[in-house]
Amino acid sequence: MATARPRGTNDILPGESERWQIMEDAIHRICGAYGYQEIRTPMFEHTELFERGIGETTDIVEKEMYTFKDRGERSLTLRPEGTAPVVRSFLEHKMYGQALPTKLYYVGPMFRYERPQAGRYRQFYQFGVEAFGSSDPALDVEMITMPIHVYIELGLKDFEVHVNSIGCPKCRPPYRQRLQKYLNDDKDKLCGTCQSRYDRNPMRILDCKVSSCQELTAEAPLIADYLCEECSEHFQAVQNYLQQLDVKVVPNRRLVRGFDYYTKTVFEIKVPGLGAQDAVGGGGRYDGLVEEMGGPSTPGVGFAVGMERVLLALDKEGAKTLTRPGMDGFVAQFGGASKERAVALVHELRRAGLSVDMDYLGRSLKAQMKAADRARVHWVLFLGDDELAAGAARVRWMKTGEEETVALAELAAYLKAQKEARP
Ligand code: HAM
Repeated sequence: MATARPRGTNDILPGESERWQIMEDAIHRICGAYGYQEIRTPMFEHTELFERGIGETTDIVEKEMYTFKDRGERSLTLRPEGTAPVVRSFLEHKMYGQALPTKLYYVGPMFRYERPQAGRYRQFYQFGVEAFGSSDPALDVEMITMPIHVYIELGLKDFEVHVNSIGCPKCRPPYRQRLQKYLNDDKDKLCGTCQSRYDRNPMRILDCKVSSCQELTAEAPLIADYLCEECSEHFQAVQNYLQQLDVKVVPNRRLVRGFDYYTKTVFEIKVPGLGAQDAVGGGGRYDGLVEEMGGPSTPGVGFAVGMERVLLALDKEGAKTLTRPGMDGFVAQFGGASKERAVALVHELRRAGLSVDMDYLGRSLKAQMKAADRARVHWVLFLGDDELAAGAARVRWMKTGEEETVALAELAAYLKAQKEARP
C-alpha cells in the first residue's frame, strides 16, 4: 500500500492544474512584456550557498532547510528560495560581463521545513524576479508594479502593498546599537528566539509575533528615522514614482523581512483576511549580496510571489474561477468500421491542430455524448454507416444543435476554418 503524500505537500489535481497553467501563462506573458527572461536553476544547491546568501541567523537557515548528505558526503539543501541560487548562477555564468541590467525570472517549487497550515506548505511554488546591475529607484518600483500586474490580471482585487526602507551597511550599524540600547534593560523579558536575536540580528525582534515582544518594541526606535542621506533619498524617489503611477502603498515603518541580504527598499504584499499567512509576495533591494558571494560589486533587486496563496486569495474573494476553454471536438463512433475510421480521423484532426478526443471504453452513444459534454466541446462528429458509405461525417454544433454533413477529405480544413469563424 502506498503511503499518503508527505506532510505540507500538495497534489495539484486535474481541474486545479488548469488554474496553475493560466497563472503561469500570465506570469510568462507579463515577465516578457517587462523585458525579463526565464532562468531555471537546480532544485538543490550546496548548503553553504544558502548559509552565506540568506544569512546564518535567519529562521530559514536556522531551522527550516531541507538539508541532506548525498552519497558523496556533500551537504546539499533543497532550495528554500530563489534569490541565492539566481545570484550563484549570475556569477557562475559571468552574466555581469554582459549587457546590464540582467533581468531574470523563475517559476518553480521551493522547500521549507515549516509547520504546515493554510497557506503554508513545505513544498510551495514561487514566481520570482531578480534584476542585477542597476541601483535606479525606478527599478525598485518595477518590482512592486510587476507582481501587482500579475494579481490584477488574475482577478485579485483586495491587497495591500507595505513598503519600508531598512537602510544600508552605512546607516544600519549605528541604528542597531540604538535599538540594542533601547532593549537592553528588558532583554530578559524577550522571548527565547528574540533573546538570541538581540546580539545577532536585533532588527528581527521588531517582526516577532509574540505579544510580549511586540509590547516591548511598541515604542522602539525605527530604522526609518536613522536612514543615511543616500538611503533616504532613494526611498523618497521610490515613493515619488509610486505616487506618480498612482500605486497605493501602505508605508510600514516596522516592516523588516526575514533575510539578511536586503538593503534599502523592502516590501510585502498582503491580502487582508487571508489568515495568519497573508503575504502573497515580498521582496526588496540587495545591493551587497553579489559582492558578498564573491562577485563584483553589483546592485540587485527582486521579489517573489507565493502562488498557492494567490489562488487562496482568489478563492477568498470568490473571484471568477480561472478556466480554460473546452476542447474543439469529440468523434463519436459506433464500433467496427466506424471505430477504425474514428481512430484515423482523430489522429488527422489532432495533427491539423485541433483538440479532439474519442471514446476508448466501448461506450454507448449516450455515454459518449456525456463525455463530449464533460470536455465542453464545440462539435461532435458522428461516423455512422450512412455517413461512412458517403465518405462523409455528420457534424453537430453543440451550442445551436445545427447539423451538417461534410466530406471526410475536407473535414480538417472545414473545422479549422469554422474554429476561426465561430470562436
Ligand atoms: P519570501 O517572503 O520568503 O521571499 O517568500 C515570498 C513569498 O513566498 C511569500 O510572500 C509567500 O507568499 C510565499 N511563501 C513563503 N513561504 C511559504 C510557505 N511555506 N508556503 C507557501 N508560501 C510561502 C523570498 O523568498 C525572497 N527570495 C523574495 C525575493 C526575491 N527578494 C528579492 N528577490
